[in-house]
Amino acid sequence: MGFETKAWLVLPLLFLLANCLQKCVTGKSQVPCLFIFGDSLSDSGNNNDLPTTAKSNYNPYGIDFPTGPTGRFTNGRTTIDIITQLLGFEDFIPPFANTSGSDILKGVNYASGSAGIRNESGTHLGVCISLGSQLTNHKVIVSQIATRFGNRENAQQYLNRCLYYVSIGSNDYINNYFLPQFYPTSSIYSPEQYAEALIEELSLNLLDLHDIGARKYVLVGLGRLGCTPKAIYTTGNGSCAEEENAAAVIFNAKLKSLVELFNNKLSTISKFIFINSTSIDRENSLVMAWMISVSGISVTDAACCRTTLHGECIPDERPCYNRNEYVFWDDFHPTEAWNLHTAMKSYDTSSNQAFTHPLDIKNLVLEKDLKKESEFINGITSQLSAPA
Ligand SMILES: *[C@@H]1O[C@H](CO)[C@@H](O)[C@H](O)[C@H]1NC(C)=O
Ligand SMILES: *[C@@H]1O[C@H](CO)[C@@H](O)[C@H](O)[C@H]1NC(C)=O
Ligand SMILES: *[C@@H]1O[C@H](CO)[C@@H](O)[C@H](O)[C@H]1NC(C)=O
Ligand SMILES: *[C@@H]1O[C@H](CO)[C@@H](O)[C@H](O)[C@H]1NC(C)=O
Repeated sequence: MGFETKAWLVLPLLFLLANCLQKCVTGKSQVPCLFIFGDSLSDSGNNNDLPTTAKSNYNPYGIDFPTGPTGRFTNGRTTIDIITQLLGFEDFIPPFANTSGSDILKGVNYASGSAGIRNESGTHLGVCISLGSQLTNHKVIVSQIATRFGNRENAQQYLNRCLYYVSIGSNDYINNYFLPQFYPTSSIYSPEQYAEALIEELSLNLLDLHDIGARKYVLVGLGRLGCTPKAIYTTGNGSCAEEENAAAVIFNAKLKSLVELFNNKLSTISKFIFINSTSIDRENSLVMAWMISVSGISVTDAACCRTTLHGECIPDERPCYNRNEYVFWDDFHPTEAWNLHTAMKSYDTSSNQAFTHPLDIKNLVLEKDLKKESEFINGITSQLSAPA
């Protein structure tokens, strides 16, 4: 069957990637720089010094990461860490909170656990950096880059060539809309109206980002919010929380439409892609059968670590041994094993066209719209002194 053939093709690649840690790709990265906006799915340490309970810089987080706990909300690499490696970067993109010793010309990670598109989302847990504030932080970095280039124009042309990864919105639901005891949004908006308001706010932020040089965007849709272990415990009968899944479906459809709208309106200068994070999930038995046969992932509804009431790993407790068999690391966040699948499918969807729209990341970075400018910039960058 075609199904099995695919599994055989993917297996060696999976094996290679699973064994490639910090420095698996040498040579030149496919884009010069990568800027990351988002929440705990992408955070790599921005919350460590913030007054919040949304932190993960303690054991057993990072148990499979080369340097141990870092503030990543998983056992190993995040999805964007793996995409960073697939793009050929030698190092992970540093968190905004600590760019010391890193080259900001290669990009910065602004993502913050518990943050959302709306600035109040997640704030019942403490301080976080909402999307709007992440944009403010990016403007600080853009000024520093402009200083490095000597003028704004050249910096802009450099920034045009970067990849901008935006993965945010889960907390506007799980840490806002579906917590009526803390946030009034569900009494103000229907799920349809709420998604519309979120997409509108997101689009304003994206246009803002466009104004300061972003041209190639990866917009990541929401996963099945109702199928996290936390949501499943809440239903009390082993089923996913359908209301949350339905809300995510509405958001995703609107996000995909936004990608189409922007690609039409800005077609000559920009390119946007949408990643459909729900196209591999446990409800799809064919996909799950394939997952299990390829990777051995079989536990889809329980966390690998023992969790607190809030759904995070209990400090210093030993997690499960068979981490590669779990989708979920804690009650909200996927394991590195699952992130590996997500990253590979986002980067190269030739085996599953439903996953990215209209392009995968591999082809997005090949888009040659800015060819002339790139040639010009190559001249400039080679004249720059070695980055500090
Ligand atoms: C900041 O980043 C540098 C370089 O990556 C690392 O050596 C250092 O430990 C980090 N500091 C903190 C406080 O995380
Ligand atoms: C959220 O943003 C709005 C508009 O930018 C601002 O008026 C409001 O004070 C902010 N709220 C918080 C909690 O930061
Ligand atoms: C499980 O519980 C939820 C609410 O707690 C309910 O809506 C759903 O119908 C139940 N599902 C099954 C299969 O019993
Ligand atoms: C995402 O993929 C799923 C499964 O293939 C599909 O049902 C859904 O319509 C897709 N979502 C969007 C917004 O394209």
